[in-house]
Amino acid sequence: MPSTKSDRKLALVTGGTGGLGTAICEKLHDLGFNVIANFYPADEQSAKTWQSEQLKQNRQFEIIGADVSDNESCVQMAKHVSKQGQLTVLINNAGITRDSTLRNMKPHHWQAVINTNLGSMYNVTSQFVDGMIEAGHGRIVNISSINGQRGQFGQTNYSAAKAGVHGFTMALAQELASKGVTVNTISPGFINTDMVLAIPEAQRNQIINSIPVARVGEPADIAHAVAFLINDQSDYITGNDLCVNGGVFMH
Ligand code: CAA
Repeated sequence: MPSTKSDRKLALVTGGTGGLGTAICEKLHDLGFNVIANFYPADEQSAKTWQSEQLKQNRQFEIIGADVSDNESCVQMAKHVSKQGQLTVLINNAGITRDSTLRNMKPHHWQAVINTNLGSMYNVTSQFVDGMIEAGHGRIVNISSINGQRGQFGQTNYSAAKAGVHGFTMALAQELASKGVTVNTISPGFINTDMVLAIPEAQRNQIINSIPVARVGEPADIAHAVAFLINDQSDYITGNDLCVNGGVFMH
């Protein structure tokens, strides 16, 4: 018998309507999850358009606006999520760039990236940990970046935040290891999204030419890694940082 909406497990994807987020939402939906896609509140109109485009492809998503850099906003988001049921899967995917050399970086560019990309780990995750512990099961996947692993010219803010993401993963993985909840990081390389297309063309071409697998990654490559980590059978895999970068950086 096909599963009904009410007996599906629940997943939340932050930044769910963006480049990577969309592929992750679609994958989770196709795996049988009820998926809530979070979006930045100022982007409500485009999130609604996204939702109706998805419906045309027979994918029904809840959408919820919340600023992941703001704790109170995440408290409100969690209240809404809890009305839908117990959260099984959390994908901390929302992230921004404000690239410049440190010499040119303004305090608000530093703060926005740290608060959104790293502060969100606390703001969002802390809302759902108790519920996962009570349920004795949960999957948390934090999206970091190759640039958090090796640094990137013009990204002191982003590289610092993304490196911090995996520190968060390793610490929380230890706290939750005995509770049936796994916590892992995925570190994408250069993926075909607006964020990467925004890199000046000369640098972008240089980057693409250096990828051993000889192609830019696709959002579906990241969604595939998410599906692996959230699988019930992946319960012995926690605290990892999974590189999905076409061989650009290995560790
Ligand atoms: N290596 C060495 N030198 C570089 C360089 C690099 N990668 N990039 C720029 N430079 C040089 C410039 O040519 C310039 O040289 P001169 O002073 O001799 O002219 C100097 O550095 C400083 O340049 P700017 O004054 O233009 O510096 P800026 O403060 O305005 O910053 C920049 C420019 C942000 C670094 C810009 O070059 C840029 O956007 N670079 C790409 C950054 C990048 O790769 N971001 C990744 C985005 S994708 C992503 O983040 C997703 C993910 O997770 C993978």
